[in-house]
Amino acid sequence: MAAWSEARVRSMRGTDGATEARIACPAGAAADSEWTDGERLDGECPVGSPSPAFRADVLAGLSARLRAIPARWFYDRRGSELFEAITRLPEYYLTRVERSILAAHAADIAALTGSGCVVVEFGSGSSAKTPLLLSAVAPSAYVPIDISGEFLLDSAAALAKQFPELPIHPVEGDFLHPLELPPSAGNARRLGFFPGSTIGNMTAAAAVGLLRAMADTLGQGSKLLIGIDRIKPANVLIPAYDDAQGVTAEFNLNLLHRINRELDGTLPIGAFRHVALWNDTEARIEMHLEATRDVSFTVDGHPFGMSKGKTIHTENSHKYGERDARLLLRAGTWTPVAEWTDRDGLFALILAEARPVPAAP
Ligand code: TRP
Repeated sequence: MAAWSEARVRSMRGTDGATEARIACPAGAAADSEWTDGERLDGECPVGSPSPAFRADVLAGLSARLRAIPARWFYDRRGSELFEAITRLPEYYLTRVERSILAAHAADIAALTGSGCVVVEFGSGSSAKTPLLLSAVAPSAYVPIDISGEFLLDSAAALAKQFPELPIHPVEGDFLHPLELPPSAGNARRLGFFPGSTIGNMTAAAAVGLLRAMADTLGQGSKLLIGIDRIKPANVLIPAYDDAQGVTAEFNLNLLHRINRELDGTLPIGAFRHVALWNDTEARIEMHLEATRDVSFTVDGHPFGMSKGKTIHTENSHKYGERDARLLLRAGTWTPVAEWTDRDGLFALILAEARPVPAAP
């Protein structure tokens, strides 16, 4: 069993081509705001039938004093491909390190969870991490939950090939809210799995709401294995979100291409640049699209202007210190029981249990 600070593992190299969970946030919510309500991710829209939610988010986001567009709109087909490429970048340590921690400690994790539990993954589970966990804990069933039915069925089919004996019960739904798990998954103890530091893409308030919803979905006595990226020097953090090959820049700028294509936009994409900055007060990486000159453009006929140097905020990735992460979990009604990290302490995998919050003195 891993003690808090003793569990250290060598960071191993290895690529893994993972897809992390994408969180849908509601129409009208800015990237910076607290997500309060969920809505279906309606994915890619053919030209000529723009998604009303995408249109509403973009028009509201560009009209706000601090311009921001919800990160959910990154993930059209091209955006999803670029995101996969990000997870394989040398600078993007998160995926690689989390996977190496899981590989090194799968047996320790299984010793604490026991076998035969129902593994419930928040996200479609197409990452290479899921097989590592499933092999180690020998679950009685696997329930991937994702807002996008397409991703869900693809990754469930791939896992079914690898684990032909394992009952798989995909749930298409929004895990920001408590969900009913399929009765066919059985009544065995539940183990939630939420890798990729996806929790970091939410504000603390929204993250707490999600953790509480997860506890409701899984029930008292369940466990949660969650990946959380650590605070570290900006010279390591920033390149992870602004790589030398420019893949993350392309990923960010793809949002503007999508607006031009799907919402009849006239954004001069050459006049925008990708910016990744470390906001120390908020302990987060922020991604922005910055106008490199004064620009004016229209979206669906609506006129907009931005002066040189102004930005559109597109994503946050909050980082948590050792104690910060445990406090976040406790605030979300999860009691941390074990934690594993890599040798350099870049990333943390935390196992927590849903327990009734004891009465305070
Ligand atoms: N949760 C991961 C992170 O914050 C993955 C991620 C989500 C991401 N959105 C992103 C990575 C945008 C790069 C750019 O790092």
